[in-house]
Amino acid sequence: MDSSDRTKVAILGAGRGGRALLDLLHQIPSIEIVGIADRDPAAPGLQRAQELRVPVTTDVTTLIGTQGISLIMDVTGDPEMERYLRAHQPPDTDILSGSASRLLWELVQHESKLEAELLQAEKLAGIGSFAAGIAHDINNPLQLIMGLAENLAEERNLTAVHEQARDIIEAVKRTSAICRDLTRYSRRASPHEDMSVSLNGKLDEALKIARYASSFHDIEMVKRYQPGAAVKGNPDELLHVFVNLITNAVHAMEQVGGTLTLETHVLDGQVGIRISDTGSGIAPDKIPEIFEPFFTTKAPGKGTGLGLYNVKTIVNKMHGVIAVDSQIDTGTTFTLTFPKVESAEQGCLP
Ligand SMILES: Nc1ncnc2c1ncn2[C@@H]1O[C@H](COP(=O)(O)OP(=O)(O)OP(=O)(O)O)[C@@H](O)[C@H]1O
Ligand SMILES: [Mg+2]
Repeated sequence: MDSSDRTKVAILGAGRGGRALLDLLHQIPSIEIVGIADRDPAAPGLQRAQELRVPVTTDVTTLIGTQGISLIMDVTGDPEMERYLRAHQPPDTDILSGSASRLLWELVQHESKLEAELLQAEKLAGIGSFAAGIAHDINNPLQLIMGLAENLAEERNLTAVHEQARDIIEAVKRTSAICRDLTRYSRRASPHEDMSVSLNGKLDEALKIARYASSFHDIEMVKRYQPGAAVKGNPDELLHVFVNLITNAVHAMEQVGGTLTLETHVLDGQVGIRISDTGSGIAPDKIPEIFEPFFTTKAPGKGTGLGLYNVKTIVNKMHGVIAVDSQIDTGTTFTLTFPKVESAEQGCLP
C-alpha cells in the first residue's frame, strides 16, 4: 500500500489504553501511526512504541502539529487535554476523546477477550482428537510396567529386581511427561509479557504434541534449523501456531504419506519459519478462504476451521506475516516471517 493512502493517526496517552490501541492499530495495514505522546517518559506504551518503531514523544504540541494527521486519538482520560485539543484542533483533523475514546477502549478490550476465547475453544476441540494418540502412548508404558511388576513378584535375584525397578521408573517418567506436555498445551495461554522464544525448541515441542493429534505413519521428517533463531512473543501462543500448522500438514498427507519439512532461518534482519508438506495441496480458489474463521474441508466433527484463523491472529499480533504457497497434489508451504526487534533507541521523535 502507498504510504500516502494510509490514514495517519496520532495517539495521546501511553498508559494501558494507549498501549492496547497501539497494538491493535499497528496490525492494520491501512493505518500509519505517526506517533504516540505521554508526559510520563516511563509510560508503558512508550516502550512498546519504541519496540514497534513508532515515534514517541513527551511533547503533545509537536505531535499534533505533524503534517497530514487525519485523526488524533486521545486516551489520556484527562479533561484538560480534551479542552486543549478542541482549542488547538488542526484543520482536516478529527479528534476522538472523552466518552468516544472510552467506548473504543472497551471495544478493544472486548475484541481481545473474544480472540482469547476463540483460541481456547479451538484448542479444546483439538484436544478431543488427541484422545486416541494419548491412549496409545500411555498404554504402551503401562503394559510395560505391568509386565515388569509381574516379573518382580517372582524375582529372587536382587540385581534383576533393581534393574526392573529402574525400567519401571523410566516408564512412569515417560507417562508423566506425556501428561505434563498436554496439560501445558491445554491451559490458557498465560498472559506473560512477550519474551524471546527459541523457534527450534518450540517447533520440537509442537512436534511432540502434534504426534498425539495425527498419525505420523509413513511420514518422513526433515529439519533444517538455523541455530539461535528466535522471535519475540508469547511462548504458549507460538506453540499453538506451530501445533496447528504441523497438524494441518500431517492431515494433508494422511492418505499417502510424504515428507514434513520444518525450517528456520535468519536473513536480513528477519526471522523466517517454513512448514512444508508434500500432501494434497489447496485449490487456488480456496486459498483466500483458508484463514477465514470456520472454513474447513474436514468432515463434520473433525475440524473447527478455526486453526488458521487463530494462527493468523497470533502472527499478526506478533507483527509477523504468514504466506502460503500450494499446489494441488504436490504440497503446501506455510512461511512465517517476523521482524527482528531493533534497539529501543530507534524511531524516537527528536
Ligand atoms: N497443509 C495443508 N494442506 C492442505 N490443505 C490445508 C493445509 N492447511 C490448511 N488446509 C486447508 O485449510 C482448511 C482450514 O484449516 P484450519 O486449520 O483453519 O482448519 P481445520 O484444520 O479444517 O480445522 P482445525 O484446525 O480445527 O482442526 C483445512 O480444512 C484444509 O482444507
Ligand atoms: Mg487445522
